[in-house]
Amino acid sequence: MKRPRITDTTLRDAHQSLWATRMRTEDMLPILEEIDKVGYFSLEMWGGATFDVCIRYLNEDPWERIRTIKKYVKQTPLQMLLRGQNIVGYANYPDDVVEAFVPMAAECGIDIFRVFDALNDVRNLDVPVRAVKKTGKHLQACVVYTLSPVHTYEHYLETALRLQDMGADSICIKDMAGMIAPYVAYDLVSLFKEKLDVPIQLHTHYIGGMAIGACLKAVEAGVDVFDACSGPLAFGSSQPPVETLVRALQGTPWDPGLDIHHLFEIANYWEELRRRRGFERGVTRISDMKVFDHQVPGGMITNLVIQLEEQKALHRMNDVLEEIPRVRAELGYPPLVTPTSQVVGIQAVLNVLLGERYKMVPQEVKDYVRGFYGRPPAPIKDEIKHLIIGEEEPITCRPADLLECRFEKMKEEIRDLAESEEDYITYALFPQIAKKFFEYRLKVRNGEIQPIAEEDQKEAARPEEAPKKGQDAARAAKPEISQVSREGGAMNVEDVKEFIRLIHETNVNELHIETASMKVNIRKGVFNEAPPVFSDPGPAQPASSGFSHGPGSDSLNPAFPPETAVRERPANLVEVAAPMVGTFYRAPAPDAPPFVEVGTKVRKGDTLCIIEAMKLMNEIEAECEGEVVEILVENAQPVEFGQALFLIASEL
Ligand code: CO
Repeated sequence: MKRPRITDTTLRDAHQSLWATRMRTEDMLPILEEIDKVGYFSLEMWGGATFDVCIRYLNEDPWERIRTIKKYVKQTPLQMLLRGQNIVGYANYPDDVVEAFVPMAAECGIDIFRVFDALNDVRNLDVPVRAVKKTGKHLQACVVYTLSPVHTYEHYLETALRLQDMGADSICIKDMAGMIAPYVAYDLVSLFKEKLDVPIQLHTHYIGGMAIGACLKAVEAGVDVFDACSGPLAFGSSQPPVETLVRALQGTPWDPGLDIHHLFEIANYWEELRRRRGFERGVTRISDMKVFDHQVPGGMITNLVIQLEEQKALHRMNDVLEEIPRVRAELGYPPLVTPTSQVVGIQAVLNVLLGERYKMVPQEVKDYVRGFYGRPPAPIKDEIKHLIIGEEEPITCRPADLLECRFEKMKEEIRDLAESEEDYITYALFPQIAKKFFEYRLKVRNGEIQPIAEEDQKEAARPEEAPKKGQDAARAAKPEISQVSREGGAMNVEDVKEFIRLIHETNVNELHIETASMKVNIRKGVFNEAPPVFSDPGPAQPASSGFSHGPGSDSLNPAFPPETAVRERPANLVEVAAPMVGTFYRAPAPDAPPFVEVGTKVRKGDTLCIIEAMKLMNEIEAECEGEVVEILVENAQPVEFGQALFLIASEL
């Protein structure tokens, strides 16, 4: 009887699932040598979301993390999760970026590459698999497990056999949502052990509580390796606890032979870190136990919570969980794993928040339906396809065949800031975030700023801590309406923005500002982040327009603003507001020209900007014809829900 071995996911999947991937390299260092002594098959410690989070939130160089861990972990192989052609991102990259990334990861210290494609479309694994084989490192290829009418044992076996033919050194059953029932695990592992020649590994999540049973039954069926993590980071949407599994198997023919006391010493370290950093414990809620209905995987649940919190709509969580399986079925049953989990997740969130299904369809969802992510497991119904991409026909080739190699060109773009070959790859993966990170790094080196993780920066800058400039003035300006008169002085956008800020941050409800050229009335609305009301006393202004500027006026729509909330103003000034919380981008890429400038004439449906929210680039379109007269937000700045982005003078 062969004893199973264990992969420890504490350094990657566990904190990605429970702590939104916020563990830092310095959090890991003190315990690495102890972990190395356990006798694990491997440590999953890189890839997935860790790369993105390192540069986006932690101000850490992800490549440096591998090298640092490698210094302390000398015996246990280091493992990463590679999202196939998506590498560590959320959409396909050109082949040359994949071909640059993989050998660099190997050179830095990755020994095992766990590779998957969200759709089990093996065409998407062709280039990444060949890139891994070329490094001579262990290639572990995944069969993504999910529940749907088309995901049968035959589908999994067929996928696994093809992956074995492509050179996989082992096959992983990747159950990212903890949906594999113990007896299914038994059957599937038995089938794979019978039909395949390579070792089989099981990756599952605790979520509804079946993972321990699934691992034990998989072990009985002869699984070679299973994934677990340290207790303080286990349970909930994370992996099952290694301590429980080791104890359960003790004294059986499948005893993995790990020292349980040593495992508890390591657990004590993580528990101390968890408390110190205020990280959450893995808990299982009723909604988690209903994973068979919504099928939302570990990392995605925490993401949904964060996203809904950001959008101030956490109370809609249950609606979103109910909407997800509907969207998923309509999109041809993609397994919910990055990036298709984002595709389905954001569409479900938008369907719920905007109160109308498919009213706003993000680029990523359109691209998915176009076939840019690969072949959907089941065909998408024509009416849904039509709703999303109209008359367009989806592609049938390997998606990356349509992507031009661009690594050399991108290298050129960042030559001034990049300091190494790794930097070029980082930039090719996440251009905008990478650039910000490189600039930060340079400032730290030049002593212009102290090194700090972005989270801490946010904390330090919390408004409660420092009284705001306008606050005292606002208090003095009581009662509720404040009149500001500026004779002759022209109002500029900065002034207006300052007033908007003032009214948003104080208890003044309304500001009325008049100059010779402009009259502005800014009111606090019924929802928190009320957008301002602009008006212009132009001569063509009919008095009976139905709008008034007095305190009793009702020119603000109190309802949840619809997609690119548009409110018409008396002088045909239409305000375009952010439909979601996110980051505002004026251009599709850092080097591309902005979509619109002041003076640009736009037609209905023209793209005005991008708001990056929930890790997706959402194009915001004009809802009317007109001329852009003001752009109220700087490029790459965070925007709040309902915040005014543009003023468009509409042509009636
Ligand atoms: Co996972």
